[in-house]
Amino acid sequence: MRGPALRLYPAPGGEVDPGSIYADLDLPAGDPYLVFTMVSTVDGKAAQGGRANPIGSDLDHLLMRRIRSAVDAVMSGAGTLRAEGVDLGVPEEMARKRVSSGLREQPLQVIVTGSGELPLERRIFREAGDDLLVIVSEATPEEKVREISRRTTVRRVAGDPEPEVQEVVGLLRHEFGVRRLAVEGGPRLNHSLVAAGLADELFLTLAPKVIGGSSVPTIVAGEELPEDEVARLRLLSAYLQGSELYLRYRFTGREGNSL
Ligand SMILES: NC(=O)c1ccc[n+]([C@@H]2O[C@H](COP(=O)([O-])OP(=O)(O)OC[C@H]3O[C@@H](n4cnc5c(N)ncnc54)[C@H](OP(=O)(O)O)[C@@H]3O)[C@@H](O)[C@H]2O)c1
Repeated sequence: MRGPALRLYPAPGGEVDPGSIYADLDLPAGDPYLVFTMVSTVDGKAAQGGRANPIGSDLDHLLMRRIRSAVDAVMSGAGTLRAEGVDLGVPEEMARKRVSSGLREQPLQVIVTGSGELPLERRIFREAGDDLLVIVSEATPEEKVREISRRTTVRRVAGDPEPEVQEVVGLLRHEFGVRRLAVEGGPRLNHSLVAAGLADELFLTLAPKVIGGSSVPTIVAGEELPEDEVARLRLLSAYLQGSELYLRYRFTGREGNSL
């Protein structure tokens, strides 16, 4: 992993072992406490050739797994699953550490869809077993629901055409006991969660790349938020390795009524 990293914030900074970044994350329990894990280029783009995976370095990929290993559930929108081979689990040694700290071996892996158009041939549907949950909406065609149910657990919540995010997090909290949730995008799902005021933190890797392209999404897509609903964030920590930055932010409120 290309040598040491630097902690830039909080002060005092200094050299750190990259193995220590986000290694012992102690996220608070919430209803659930919701953190985003995203990667972006310096020009704000969230996809390279239509996928997120090529944007960040190996360390970025490792940090994403460390964040997964600190939560009860990891969630992704169907658009991301259709765009790339999403796997939402953790490697074996992280799974062992989870068990020794009282968590289930793998986080619950959650996909949300309204259309029910999922690439069911993907590995996640073969390998995640009981750890996978698909949440559909009241608009999802019955035939699609039946097809998905043959592969994995499905729950239907209110929402038309897409599952309402309050219903999604309510279901995860009350039926599945999720107190800490990592959301790995994509941009449209992120927008719904931010607009609903459900976001607590953002882990953002800023990769030293410029991609360009006005149709390439940023990490939060959809309608521009009204001026007084613009979300405000406070930096919690910043690390640097090479020219890639690992930023952790706390959502603190809205432009109209920030704390
Ligand atoms: N840079 C990063 O960190 C990162 C992370 C993830 C993804 N991406 C990139 O983002 C792109 C995909 O973007 P996307 O915006 O289509 O991804 P997305 O947010 O994963 O998918 C959007 C889809 O999620 C489903 N969904 C369910 N409930 C929703 C709700 N309440 N609000 C919004 N969506 C809901 C809908 O699926 P149905 O259409 O099935 O109804 C919707 O079309 C890909 O290029 C991917 O590589 C980047």
